Amino acid sequence: MKVGMLTGGGDCPGLNAVIRAIVRKGSFHYEDEFVGFLEGWRGLLENKSMPLDLSSVGGILPRGGTILRTSRTNPAKKADGLDKCIATLKKHSIDALIAIGGDDTLSVAQKLHEKGVKVVGIPKTIDNDLAGTDYTFGFDTAVNVVTEAIDRVHTTAEAHNRVMVVEVMGRDAGWIAIHSGVAGGADVILIPERPFDIEKVAETIRLRHARGRYFSIVVVAEGAKFSTDMDPQHGAPIVQDMEKDEFGHARLGGIGNILAREIERRIGFETRTVVLGHIQRGGSPSAFDRVLATRYGLGAIDMVHRGEFGCMAALRGNKIVSIPLADAIAKNRTVDQEMIDVASGIMDKLTGDEEPVEK
Ligand code: F6P
Repeated sequence: MKVGMLTGGGDCPGLNAVIRAIVRKGSFHYEDEFVGFLEGWRGLLENKSMPLDLSSVGGILPRGGTILRTSRTNPAKKADGLDKCIATLKKHSIDALIAIGGDDTLSVAQKLHEKGVKVVGIPKTIDNDLAGTDYTFGFDTAVNVVTEAIDRVHTTAEAHNRVMVVEVMGRDAGWIAIHSGVAGGADVILIPERPFDIEKVAETIRLRHARGRYFSIVVVAEGAKFSTDMDPQHGAPIVQDMEKDEFGHARLGGIGNILAREIERRIGFETRTVVLGHIQRGGSPSAFDRVLATRYGLGAIDMVHRGEFGCMAALRGNKIVSIPLADAIAKNRTVDQEMIDVASGIMDKLTGDEEPVEK
């Protein structure tokens, strides 16, 4: 078969491992040929491609980023965009397309599938917020990066008697914040799923210091929201500017600085912010992500040969299975109560708890 491939949305450690696994299994076991479309859906819109063979995937397993590059291009927002993509696939005589991306990229894959394209999806995002799969690759690497950063921030916070706020990625879901916060021993973890009351956060830290601790670590997801008096459940996330990308997302960021200012203003402890940003997405994937990405790639090329189109490779209880793309994009997978209970169990208070717990 002639198989096309693209990577869309924010990059993620492990993308190259997926590409490599698909090309290797496709070449060794199915005698497939591959075409890589460049820069996400832009490659199909503008017919930008590169040949993908065993030599082009040599040595890419440990490399971050994606040799196919990526973009947040949305063909559904361009005049005849989806038809242009289909025309490019025809021009290259592509039998099946593998789209590697998050909910935005996979929503376009679903639209193309509805127009008759034979497409298989692979879930990718450091945010780990895709429905239908237990873990996305890239998440483990991001959590390791953030945990190491929290460990480093811990020692300087302790040395200076400071509160340190660590802002991490996580637009709609706080998986990175809660996993790295638990792994790094954070004192407060704030996630998009639970709008928080700044008074309670400040009071929690004040009580902690009152019982003899002289530094604190706060981990906040970029999409976390202040609750408001008007509507305590639904604050708005802090955005860097009002401009939106082609999938309608604003650029988040800035909550860490605001939080630090408000904590210091309320309780008087010197407070500093660290914004980890794209450091979380760059660099070499962890061993776990290399293995997971490889398994997703193998799963996807097998799905192509079984004719399971309009589906996504998913991890369910340590097995790679095939699920409808429509299920994966239907909603975000947000942090579950079990993980919230883990965090609440070892911390003074997680936002949403009734009152700070005195130890
Ligand atoms: O891929 C998801 C994500 O990591 C979000 O957590 C974050 O808001 C966004 O990417 C940032 O994307 P960009 O690199 O386009 O600024």
